[in-house]
Amino acid sequence: MRHFLSLADLSPQELHWLVHTTIRRKKRKKVATPLRGSILALIFEKPSLRTRVSFEAGMARLGGTSIFLTGQEVGLGIRESLADCARTLSQYVHAIVLRVFRHQTLEIFAQHAQVPVINGLSDREHPCQALGDFVTMTELLGSLTGRTLAFIGDSNNIARSLALGCAMLGVRWHHACPPAFRFEPSFLTELAARFPKAVLQYFDEPAQAVCEADIIYTDVWTSMGQEKEQSERQRAFARYRVDRALLQHAKPNARVMHCLPAHRGEEITDEVLDGPQSVVFHQAANRMHAQETLLLWLLGKIAMPRAFKSPRKAAVRKR
Ligand code: CP
Ligand code: NVA
Repeated sequence: MRHFLSLADLSPQELHWLVHTTIRRKKRKKVATPLRGSILALIFEKPSLRTRVSFEAGMARLGGTSIFLTGQEVGLGIRESLADCARTLSQYVHAIVLRVFRHQTLEIFAQHAQVPVINGLSDREHPCQALGDFVTMTELLGSLTGRTLAFIGDSNNIARSLALGCAMLGVRWHHACPPAFRFEPSFLTELAARFPKAVLQYFDEPAQAVCEADIIYTDVWTSMGQEKEQSERQRAFARYRVDRALLQHAKPNARVMHCLPAHRGEEITDEVLDGPQSVVFHQAANRMHAQETLLLWLLGKIAMPRAFKSPRKAAVRKR
């Protein structure tokens, strides 16, 4: 049994396979129902549109059902311990998606769950978003090896999952953010130890970060749970906005990505978000397709073939 708490819970090969399997599955006209009889529980401590609906719609499309609960009604860790909650819920359902304030909640829950636990966003990571986003990037660009992703903004949950994925897939990470908001050293050490070939570069100027980029990605300056820091963050990030002036420093065909919800006028302007380089709704659509593949895999309905070679490995062998 596997959990999916971090993008780094996958091997690079598994990430490649999940991305390519999703793209293949999307092309099929008929959706089979291999999850008939399967039940997914979702417990969310924070609001959600995309994650909740894409999981619930995906389960319905695959023949399964889902049960949504707020953290408050469950009393997660308050009404009863996380361990008791995890053990009890495992008696009724086949997988559990949790959206939590503290990543540690997920880790404790997963230690005691007897079914796969999926991170539906924590303060540390949002691996389901990153999985869908690598599907989108692959559909748009083909092979991602050697490409450059410029991330403009906070070193938050989205940034951590994307940076890990970039390291796994050979994508250069160019990050523009105020120096005080860079990744914590422990994350960078862990990333470098696990993926020594990863290219991760910081830029003080967003214009420098975007000039070689194939993808320009941004996310909110203030994530859910950080509301008290909003005015400090608005001041610190004021120069780190994806607007028309910034895009003039980028390649004309660079794609603009955002996980949504956006704080329009803060990290991204309307003209960019609604403009021709924006692929944000393509990203939103792929959340469902990628999570369907993830569920099929975690619930044992599909498996990575032993012979599967990730494109990077295949290319290395050919030389
Ligand atoms: N991108 C994303 O996870 O959106 P929601 O917060 O609406 O689920
Ligand atoms: N960084 C954002 C992502 C929302 C999908 C947040 O955590 O609020």
